[in-house]
Amino acid sequence: MVWNTQRLLEVARTRLGNAQLIVVANREPYIHRYREGEVEWIRPAGGLTTALDPVMQACGGVWVAHGSGEADRDVCDAAGRVGVPPDQPRYTLRRVWLTREQEEGYYYGFANSCLWPLCHQVFCRPVFDPQHWQIYRQVNELFAAAVLEEAQNGPALIFVQDYHFALLPRLLKQVRPDLIIAHFWHIPWPEVDKFLVCPWARDILEGLLGNDLLGFHTQHDCNNFQECVDRTLECRLNREEFSIIRGGRQTRVRPFPISVDTDLPRRYLGPNWESRAAQWRKKLRLGQRPLLVGVDRLDYTKGIPERLQALDHLLRHHPELKGTFHFLQVGAPSRTHLPAYRDLAEQVEELTERINWEHGTSHWRPVVLLQEHYGPEEITLLYRMAAGCVVSSLHDGMNLVAKEFVATRDDERGVLVLSRFTGAARELTDAVLVNPFDVEELAAGLYQALTMPLEEQERRMRRLRAQVLEHNIYRWAGQLLSALGRMAPDVTAPATATVEAAGLPHLPAAATHHQTVDSLAPLTRL
Ligand code: G6P
Repeated sequence: MVWNTQRLLEVARTRLGNAQLIVVANREPYIHRYREGEVEWIRPAGGLTTALDPVMQACGGVWVAHGSGEADRDVCDAAGRVGVPPDQPRYTLRRVWLTREQEEGYYYGFANSCLWPLCHQVFCRPVFDPQHWQIYRQVNELFAAAVLEEAQNGPALIFVQDYHFALLPRLLKQVRPDLIIAHFWHIPWPEVDKFLVCPWARDILEGLLGNDLLGFHTQHDCNNFQECVDRTLECRLNREEFSIIRGGRQTRVRPFPISVDTDLPRRYLGPNWESRAAQWRKKLRLGQRPLLVGVDRLDYTKGIPERLQALDHLLRHHPELKGTFHFLQVGAPSRTHLPAYRDLAEQVEELTERINWEHGTSHWRPVVLLQEHYGPEEITLLYRMAAGCVVSSLHDGMNLVAKEFVATRDDERGVLVLSRFTGAARELTDAVLVNPFDVEELAAGLYQALTMPLEEQERRMRRLRAQVLEHNIYRWAGQLLSALGRMAPDVTAPATATVEAAGLPHLPAAATHHQTVDSLAPLTRL
């Protein structure tokens, strides 16, 4: 049976009963900003929001996120709430406002200068700054207060996203033990010796053990997490059930490889995509030449310089390819406040300029670099126009660009060149798998993409599509909900703690409302 919105909705109805679904993610799914004096909205770049928005549109509920757009406040009510998608609201976005200092310490600081490099194998030294840690804790408390406010009217399933909120599950559980809390960690979990250098490793692990269910993309990440806990905290590991028992509470740790909505590409392309493609080709002077595309946030984990160096290598060793194709790289600006990201943008520009200078002519630019934010309609069009898509992450939890490309290619053509160090490589084994640290191997992958016979492309793409169409985002969400349903009896301990006891900001009286086991009946029955 195929997973789709309808099936997910049915699972949500049975599993959630009358419990409210509250997602917490730092990044909001819709950002409001000003354009020529008018308020407009955009969808941010990045896999997390792309994957979760369709789930929320299907299930309804509340998404609690940092209100990061310059026009965000103008469209919200006094509590920071606004219906989204803005053109056809299906769920509520609850925005949390952060000061500059909080954004600096929590988002740019602890989340993106410490946890991001700590969890990725990219040889970038994490920053361990006590001030960042302090503010990270403070912002986790701020979000806990917002979630408790949203959940004050009854039972709720809180679905926390990613490394921005490692402390949130425990903070919530202390106040409302009746809440069902699941957390999905969208980035890799490092090996034990790497993780334990973090001065706050123990607090992070304890925070995460506030969850009833903790999900990672792969079994390897789950194993790494369990080993970190085993080495650091006094607890019992149940290796058969993949769970951790500490202080009488149980946290299950499971892999749930995330995916995409496979119906969206058709909608984004629309009926007249070919004329839009022709306009792009004209505007960028691409002629009818085949395109290799890369679509990434400009992030040092994505292996963009490595891919350009491989292209340089390819053109040196296969001069006959000169003038025959273009490499089109979309680099969405990301976290530009951080020097490491600004340096990367500069490096990518320099490499592009050098390659175009050395190999290009007045009629042909090998690399077309677009350092802008593009919406899903345009990105999907590029996937459809491409002869191949290159994903060369040095390390990546999943990488949804690879799955979006496959989902778009209902013509069963096009080659996916995919780094072995992505979560996606475990599922998409019919891609051309490469080691992005090996310039020769990556160049050979690009060569293969440009020269693969059509029959082989079709054979591979058919298998890739079968995998992605079956393992879509609705299956991911449905399986998470089902796993929660199955474990519910373990998680309904009577509530005892209060907001004050957890050291949280004081909330209105109703927020300390405690659930009884009975009120969770629809979940506990499963
Ligand atoms: C990764 C992270 C997400 C994040 C996304 C975009 O996929 O796992 O949590 O939202 O990058 O990054 P940003 O910092 O712009 O939210």
